Formats: sequence, C-alpha cells, structure tokens
Amino acid sequence: MNRREFLIRSAGGLAAATTGRLASIAAAQQATGTKPVRLGVVGLGNRGTHLLRLALAVPGVQVKAVCDLNEDNINRAAEIVQKAQGSEPVRYSKAPDDYSAMVKRDDIDAVLIATPTKWHCPMAIEAMKAGKHVGSEVPAGFQLQELHDLVKTKEATGRRYMLLENYLYMRHIMTVWNMVRAGVFGEPYYAECAYLHDCRFMLFKQDGSLDWWGDWAANNFGSDYPTHAMGPVSKWMALNEGDRMEYCTSMMTSPRVLKQYAVKKYGADSPQGKIDCALGEFVSTQIHTVKGRVIRLDYDVNSPRPAVLPYMIQGTKGLYDSRHGVYVEEEGKGEKWDNLQKHQEQYDHAYWKRDAESAQKAGHGGGDFFAVRDFIEMVRQDREPWIDVYDAASWSVLYWCSRESIANRSKTVDVPDFTSGRWKDADWRADNHRPA
Ligand SMILES: NC(=O)c1ccc[n+]([C@@H]2O[C@H](COP(=O)([O-])OP(=O)(O)OC[C@H]3O[C@@H](n4cnc5c(N)ncnc54)[C@H](O)[C@@H]3O)[C@@H](O)[C@H]2O)c1
Repeated sequence: MNRREFLIRSAGGLAAATTGRLASIAAAQQATGTKPVRLGVVGLGNRGTHLLRLALAVPGVQVKAVCDLNEDNINRAAEIVQKAQGSEPVRYSKAPDDYSAMVKRDDIDAVLIATPTKWHCPMAIEAMKAGKHVGSEVPAGFQLQELHDLVKTKEATGRRYMLLENYLYMRHIMTVWNMVRAGVFGEPYYAECAYLHDCRFMLFKQDGSLDWWGDWAANNFGSDYPTHAMGPVSKWMALNEGDRMEYCTSMMTSPRVLKQYAVKKYGADSPQGKIDCALGEFVSTQIHTVKGRVIRLDYDVNSPRPAVLPYMIQGTKGLYDSRHGVYVEEEGKGEKWDNLQKHQEQYDHAYWKRDAESAQKAGHGGGDFFAVRDFIEMVRQDREPWIDVYDAASWSVLYWCSRESIANRSKTVDVPDFTSGRWKDADWRADNHRPA
C-alpha cells in the first residue's frame, strides 16, 4: 500500500467510526436546539471528504450542497451526507465553474473549500460576494494579486473568512503558544520552521498523467506550501499584531530528484521521464520582521526522507525546539534540555484539556478536529476567526515572495502588508476569536 492509499484508507476507517456517532449527535442536536450551520462543500477528494465527515459530526451542521467534477468523489460525498443527515445534498458537477451556482444558493450560510489550490481564491471570492462565509483549505492562494483580491473582498463584503490551518491546533503547538504568552521564553526573536515531507507519491495519477500537484511542481518553483510551517511560528511571534514580516530572501537547490523519480518509475524515454521539473528539492527562506526578528522557513517535498515538521522558537530567556525540547536559562540546569511533556500539565491548552479524546481521533495530531470546529463556530456565531484573512494572505504570499527571490539570485523581496498598517496596533484584532 503506498502512502496515498494509506492516507485514503485510514480516512475511510475514521469515517466508519464517525458515522457510528452521527445518529447520537443528531439526537443531541435536536435536544440542545443548536443553531444550524448550513454548508456547501466544494472539492471532495482526499481532504474534502475528511473535512466533510468531521463537519457532519459537529452538532447542528447540515450539508445542503456538494460540488466536485469527479463523479466517484461527488457520489461518495452525497452518500456520506445522506447517511449522516438522512437527506441528499444537491450536487454540482457539470463544469469547473459550477461552484458559482452553488455559492449563490440561499439555503447555505458558508462554503467549505478543499479543491486544488489554484481554485481557492476564485471560489472564496465568489462565495463571499454571494454573501457566504468561507472556510478554505491551505494555502489560501498562490498569486499576489489574487491574495490582495481575497482580502479586499472580505473587507468589502463583511463576510467571515477562516484559513483551515490545522497544524496550529496540534497539542504541542498550542502548549508552546501558552508558554510563549506566559513569558517562559522571554521575548521571542528567532524562529525556525519547516515542512519536510516526501510527497513524490502525489505527483502522478494512476494512469501516469500528472496530478494537479505534479503539474504545479513541474511548472512552478518556490515555497509553495508554507502555512503548516509558518502558522504556528506566526502565532507564537504574534505576527500581524505589533510586528509583521517585512522582507525575505530565498534559495533553492536545482531540481534533480524528481527527474530521477520519474525515470525510475516510467523509464527514461517515457513522457514522464522527459519532464524537467521547475521545483527544486530544498527551498530555504529567511524572513526579517519590521521589529528586527528573523524566521527561517524550509521546504522540501521531493527528497527521499522521512516526514518531519521541526519547529523552534528562541526568546531572550530560552527556547523550544521540537527536535530537542525546552531550555530555560534561569532554571540553572546548564545546557540541559527538558522534555516538553514536563510542562504539559501546566501549559496544556484548554481546547486539549477539554477535548483531547475526540481530537486525537480526527487526524493531523488533533488539529483537524479543532480547525473544523472553530470554522463551524465562526459561522454559527458570525465572529472573526483566530486564523483570519490577514494571516491567510500573509503566510500564503511567501510562495510568491520566495519565487521572486529565487528567480533573481536571492534578492530581498518585500512581504506585502495585507493589513494596511493595522498590524502596528497589537490589539487591533482583540475582538477576533482566540482559542480559550
Ligand atoms: N490541511 C491539510 O493538512 C491538508 C492536507 C492535504 C491537502 N490539503 C489541501 O487540500 C486541498 C485539496 O487537496 P486533496 O489532497 O484533497 O486533493 P484531491 O486531488 O484529492 O481533491 C481535490 C478535489 O477537487 C476536485 N476539483 C478540482 N477542481 C474542481 C472544481 N473546479 N470544482 C469542483 N471540484 C474540483 C477534484 O475533482 C478532487 O475531487 C489542497 O489545496 C491541499 O493543499 C490540506
């Protein structure tokens, strides 16, 4: 079984468990009179199907419509919805722009987007213009202009937009967020983060043609999946709240492994073996903030290696490094690392204290559970989310910035300010939801 099959199958196992709980959830929902949240879901492949199941397990959620071009995927989704809520969703599957019709329905409050990334911004923009709130998979988009348009549309329409950045909600990430806010590490001034995950298995479809991800990697280069790495670090450093990313510089190794991979899999004379991929293996980006802090963002999805997502935050009193643990100078233990577990009880986040068991079943270290729940509550309570459109745009634009830098011998590139200067006030988002 390859890794993709494993992911799909394990999501299937989860589905069976989830479906089993649905009847009792529906009953609880009726009993509590929870305000309904009516969704349209677009993109029901691997990720969208998983999110659909998690959303249906939240009391009050009704999925009124689903949209996908793939017949098997949309049928599977409709069946899941039918089983969960006892009624079929309306299907949209005629053409790539059929989502436009779905987002105009007047019986949905929000749209959940889990299509390939190039669709995220156009779909989110159209949904907000049609008066719907949005939950978007990561990254928010690829291109500079579409990210500006996303922010402008959110501001003009007053709709809510949340980036479903699930890694932020993992237990160790939230524990460290509490530790940072309690001042354990002093003032944070340097961070490292990386997404290092061999995703070569995602490049080709079973028929040997390039999948959307492979097509992207063949023709584009840069740090194109930055939010899993940047999200936690950005919240730890309170970026966009008193400080922001000002400029960056990137380097990339010249592509070599993907060619070898395609040649080995399909032969040197095959069409696949002749593809010259634009994306190199290792992309390293250094980001400087207005207040003189530095972040190193590394990215590699093509090298033969086990997956790892290292995170590090250095402050004036000590640091957290996911590869080693915690070090606090004033504890006077010399150069000795502590295990994060030692601090877990004191700094465990309230989300995890309350819902660890449910979260752990949901995937991505529990992050998926809380991300979906926060999205549903954003819609239900009509409130600004923790991971708002400004975070979404500023993290996602690092792809564009890194590409500009790499294409120009690592020149420094300004990171756009999507907040129009509001970041200067550390409290400007005080009314946003904050996990508590
Ligand atoms: N947060 C996470 O941990 C995580 C994990 C995996 C993927 N993702 C993100 O989720 C998104 C989807 O990834 P995936 O792995 O599920 O891809 P996928 O290829 O499995 O699914 C994409 C689905 O979108 C459908 N689609 C494509 N164009 C469409 C259109 N115009 N209208 C309607 N449907 C359309 C496809 O038919 C397919 O069913 C990507 O943006 C990816 O970056 C996030």
